[in-house]
Amino acid sequence: MALIKVLYSFGGTGKFWRFINCSRGALIVLEGVDRAGKTTQCQKLVQALQQSGQAAEMMRFPDRATKIGQLISSYLEKKSNLEDHTVHLLFSANRWEMVPLIRQKLEEGINLVVDRYAFSGVAFTSAKPGFTLEWCMNPDMGLPKPDLVMFLQLNPSMAENRGEYGIERYETSAFQRTVQQRFEELMQDSSVNWKVIDAARTIEEVHKDIKLLSEDIISLAQNQPVGELWR
Ligand SMILES: Nc1ncnc2c1ncn2[C@@H]1O[C@H](COP(=O)(O)OP(=O)(O)OP(=O)(O)O)[C@@H](O)[C@H]1O
Ligand SMILES: [Mg+2]
Repeated sequence: MALIKVLYSFGGTGKFWRFINCSRGALIVLEGVDRAGKTTQCQKLVQALQQSGQAAEMMRFPDRATKIGQLISSYLEKKSNLEDHTVHLLFSANRWEMVPLIRQKLEEGINLVVDRYAFSGVAFTSAKPGFTLEWCMNPDMGLPKPDLVMFLQLNPSMAENRGEYGIERYETSAFQRTVQQRFEELMQDSSVNWKVIDAARTIEEVHKDIKLLSEDIISLAQNQPVGELWR
């Protein structure tokens, strides 16, 4: 009876055993230019981890469901115009507003697979004229640091072949090329655990690499505290 009460107070056996185990989840991010396969691979990774008995959930940025996310969504759909610095700060705020939830999930032992993060935010704004990488990185300094960032490398001309760019803001090949250059600059920073993945292969081939790298980092991250990005 007492054991049932304890399990009930933890909200189920899964959370109870994770509490006993004390291990945290890993923060895994997928980045890349538009159409590189980020969403496809995030979904496959979450599914694969769950099938192998690991707790895993997906998150994506921007999260268009929040109030800030709705402002961003309207901007991306070109239904509204926002000043460039302002929109950059909104994208960053959209990540910060999810930090309590990110921390809670990681503490509960849930591995988070994140579709875009601060790197996209910085790469996109700094691809606009008049923005430095440094200015763009500032608002995201101190976010929970990903244990692993996998960059899906795909030539922008190949990305275009995966379907026409849509009508949303930023979906032009010239802009995407500049975004790619900014990502390359960000990848010079060795304080972030970057892994470049050749995304020009089949979905299954790409998935195999991503799954292996993720499984390794999940074991490594378990006993380490969550770091702070760019600090
Ligand atoms: N390895 C692959 N080979 C061929 N096609 C792929 C591959 N991976 C994804 N695709 C296809 O390319 C398109 C874009 O994939 P996906 O939406 O996963 O990319 P994304 O990086 O999330 O794009 P976005 O940045 O626009 O959100 C989809 O039609 C998807 O089925
Ligand atoms: Mg996507």
